[in-house]
Amino acid sequence: MAFPPGFLDELRARTNLAELIGRRVKLTRRGREHVGLCPFHNEKTPSFTVSEDKGFYHCFGCGAHGDAISFLMNTEGLAFPESVERLAGAAGLAVPRESSESKETRDHREQLLATVEAAAGWYEAQLAAVGGAEARAYLERRGLSPATVRAFRLGYAPPERGALRRALAAQGFGDSLLAEAGLIKLPEPEEAGGAPEPEPRDYLFNRVVFPITDSRERVIAFGGRTLGESRAKYLNSPDGPLFHKGHLLYNLPKARQAARSSGELLLVEGYMDVIALAEAGFPAAVAPLGTALTEEQIGLAWRFVAEPVLCLDGDEAGRRAAGRAAERALPLLKPGQSLRFALLPAGEDPDSLVRRQGPSALRGLLQDALPLVDLVWHLALEGRPLDTPERRAGLRRDLRERLNRIADKEVQSAYWDEMQARLDALFRRPGRGERPAQGRGGPGRRAGRNGFGRPERRLDRRGDPDVTVPPLSRNRPATLGRLRHEQILLAALVNHPELLFETAEPLAALSLENRDLGRLLAALLDLAAYHEDLDRSAIHGHLCDQGFSGLLADLLHWRVYKVGPFARPEAAPAEVKAAWGPFFGRLAERRTRDEATEVY
Ligand code: UTP
Ligand code: MN
Repeated sequence: MAFPPGFLDELRARTNLAELIGRRVKLTRRGREHVGLCPFHNEKTPSFTVSEDKGFYHCFGCGAHGDAISFLMNTEGLAFPESVERLAGAAGLAVPRESSESKETRDHREQLLATVEAAAGWYEAQLAAVGGAEARAYLERRGLSPATVRAFRLGYAPPERGALRRALAAQGFGDSLLAEAGLIKLPEPEEAGGAPEPEPRDYLFNRVVFPITDSRERVIAFGGRTLGESRAKYLNSPDGPLFHKGHLLYNLPKARQAARSSGELLLVEGYMDVIALAEAGFPAAVAPLGTALTEEQIGLAWRFVAEPVLCLDGDEAGRRAAGRAAERALPLLKPGQSLRFALLPAGEDPDSLVRRQGPSALRGLLQDALPLVDLVWHLALEGRPLDTPERRAGLRRDLRERLNRIADKEVQSAYWDEMQARLDALFRRPGRGERPAQGRGGPGRRAGRNGFGRPERRLDRRGDPDVTVPPLSRNRPATLGRLRHEQILLAALVNHPELLFETAEPLAALSLENRDLGRLLAALLDLAAYHEDLDRSAIHGHLCDQGFSGLLADLLHWRVYKVGPFARPEAAPAEVKAAWGPFFGRLAERRTRDEATEVY
């Protein structure tokens, strides 16, 4: 909606900005401005200022900035015209209407909304009716309480195609309204070519129905989940005058209040996830509507929290989705504004996770959620040998290309600093940085013994030749899954080959449960035995040559690093050193214990 020139200025001038914002944020006057705790990010000391003279607010912490209209948009989730209307109402200004045509459009919109609302009510009634028994049983099986079913206004579209059309016709809603609202499909003209004219058909039938609302909680569309065997598990209303899939998030109107007060907003994949999470005590969850997350949806989530958390299945598809979301978010990043990623165990979605393992399992994953920068880093690194200068330069260039997509210059340069530091740590030769260069036989590089000027990279076999396995530390129980434990072991060895030399004998005595990892360990020990001057990238290259690249891609993965951070390639030598002993001790002890239980 376009407003006549001057109207918006008049509106801003008539709005008391400090008073408007003061309703949400406790403000104290400081000189010509007001200051308070920023409502757009979590902070303990106020960096949020409101300047009535200038007519805008600004946060020095997160960069949030805007006027009265954008304040309402950002805090209430209103669209621009809705914010204008709200402010105009408060200021006693009449919102100018442009023409009679726009009034017609508005009336038509109201009619469409009434149509969809009537359908929502009808679906709800069908769920409660005798015919809804199967659907009610289904929802009960899925653990939804009647209160939740009511709160989300779940409904049921019965199997007869045409039932909704008849019921709404009786309430005075004709076919053209129903079709425009996305509730029925009109027959294609060709189809009507034959003798008996085909009937328009209900869009949803024999499905549990999830109403989708706009920012004011008016129903504008539906998602439907099949009860039987249908090719499409979920069907959503087609886009139309009321509904634009990519611009909305399911459950945002309910979630935003909770998100604002907790600073947490979960982005999940499905309707059922949102609802199950609400039941499990996570009211701030939203989902896209059957499509990958769009830029608009990311922007929408940012209106309420600085770092929404994407909760994704830990399988391949989930990882791809994480990658896509990251790609999409990069150009949109702003100081203070990012995404985080919680990767669920493979095969679980938030719904199944909280049902099976309880809310605390999800809470834990959320606490460990990965910042976007880590995701970008790991995506760039995954399954990629770095054993030649060209390959290392290739990584650098790929990272630079990714970071170039960040539009905000400040964020971009902060990212580049971070990546630079990680690259330096990654390519740091073992031993470098731990001690002055002189300690290793003079400053600078010197020709290696191969005579090609290759800098010396011999791995120190420092440390005790008889590596003693420390006793199991009791303060941290060995709760890692066996496979994960073995993965961390191998990742640590590949990324920090010095460990291989230090622990060669006990390693050779170890037998791993996972066959592939066992083969990899044997290959590593072989390499170590024959080439004692190999470093990380050379080892990686050799292993790829031997056909281990797929396994390595799985292994050198942030899911592994998350539980065994010292195995990260960029972990500092001191960190690796400190963690290795106890880690290996637990692994070895565990073997002994497992064997003991096998025998007795
Ligand atoms: P999922 O297949 O992950 O389903 O789809 P789900 O949410 O776990 O559902 P349940 O637990 O089996 O009931 C996630 C989302 O993808 C969209 C829907 O929005 C769904 O909520 N989707 C899925 C479709 O639009 N069409 C489909 O056929 C499947
Ligand atoms: Mn599910």
